[in-house]
Amino acid sequence: MWKQAIEDTLQKTRANIERFGDLFPHVSENDIYHLNPNNEWTDGFWSGILWLSYQYTGEKVFQEAAQRTVASFKERLENNVALEHHDIGFLYSLSSKAQWILERDENARQLTLQAADVLMKRWRPKGQYIQAWGPEGDAANGGRIIIDCMLNLPLLYWAYEQTGNEKYKEVAIIHADLSRRYLVRGDDSSYHTFYFDQETGEPLRGGTHQGYQDGSTWTRGQAWGIYGFALSYRYTKNPLYLETAVRMARYFFERLPQDDVVYWDFNAPVNAETKRDSSASAIASAGTLEILEHLAADDANRAYLENGVQRSMTGLVKSYATIGKPDAQGFIERGSYSVRGGAAPDDYMIWGDYYYLEALLRLEKGFKGYWYE
Ligand code: GLY
Repeated sequence: MWKQAIEDTLQKTRANIERFGDLFPHVSENDIYHLNPNNEWTDGFWSGILWLSYQYTGEKVFQEAAQRTVASFKERLENNVALEHHDIGFLYSLSSKAQWILERDENARQLTLQAADVLMKRWRPKGQYIQAWGPEGDAANGGRIIIDCMLNLPLLYWAYEQTGNEKYKEVAIIHADLSRRYLVRGDDSSYHTFYFDQETGEPLRGGTHQGYQDGSTWTRGQAWGIYGFALSYRYTKNPLYLETAVRMARYFFERLPQDDVVYWDFNAPVNAETKRDSSASAIASAGTLEILEHLAADDANRAYLENGVQRSMTGLVKSYATIGKPDAQGFIERGSYSVRGGAAPDDYMIWGDYYYLEALLRLEKGFKGYWYE
């Protein structure tokens, strides 16, 4: 089943290379991807899809398209285009870092190190956190961390390993510890965001941006936590991070609905209109496969987590994938970007497509994505 699903994504990616040209897909409307000239937080995912497709097939068409995206990311960094946010890790891990991993291209390594320095500019020494959005001192966002940032930290851990400069790792660890303490709640659910006093770092309150309400658990946020803490464990070997990832994954899989693909928020009332977020299920699956890399063979959580991945991925392939729709641009339907915000509430998400393919390739081939090495 996984192999057939992978083949389907490859066919779509070949067609998308033609369709998208030098532009980057973000989310869809009426089944057509919105394209941008590499100025969105999501543009690394298209690059990552191309690199994964190349790694799997060895085909030049994927390699050359992926290399072109890295050239675009170089220009983006040189011209400082839309980089004033924390998602530098998403952008450069899956583009230039992927190229470094696959081709040992020194320019790609250097570009990725420069990107890590851009991310370091989000570090706020007074509050001791990485600011997610907005300029320093911003009234609304200056004191805000978000759980999505856990996937940006690997860029900093990696930069430490490449350079030996401790500052990258110190910042990543302080931010991961703060996220664990304030974003993850006692019952293993999570806040999407948490606010701190910008001057003193005093913790103020949890909240949400894309979830149902402030105290709810946005399913994609929970998925970012699963994968992000697993990666913090990979880099640091701090067992608390692995334990947190496992607990968050159990929370996620304990709440799978009947068709095994989650709704957009675990606390949203469920009725016939409730939106799904297939991208959350794809991220949680890939993240749990990362967790399983680190659990002992006889770990008591292993069977439960393996089963959660199998259920989620089978649900995606059987009921959400666009297999059998050769003209579809996306791999999985029914992602949601921001349900309350009315932004792409029931559409393709390029990150959903990326993590779906990464999880398939982890299952079929033992690939690992491009978050480390
Ligand atoms: N990182 C933004 C999102 O998940 O929508």
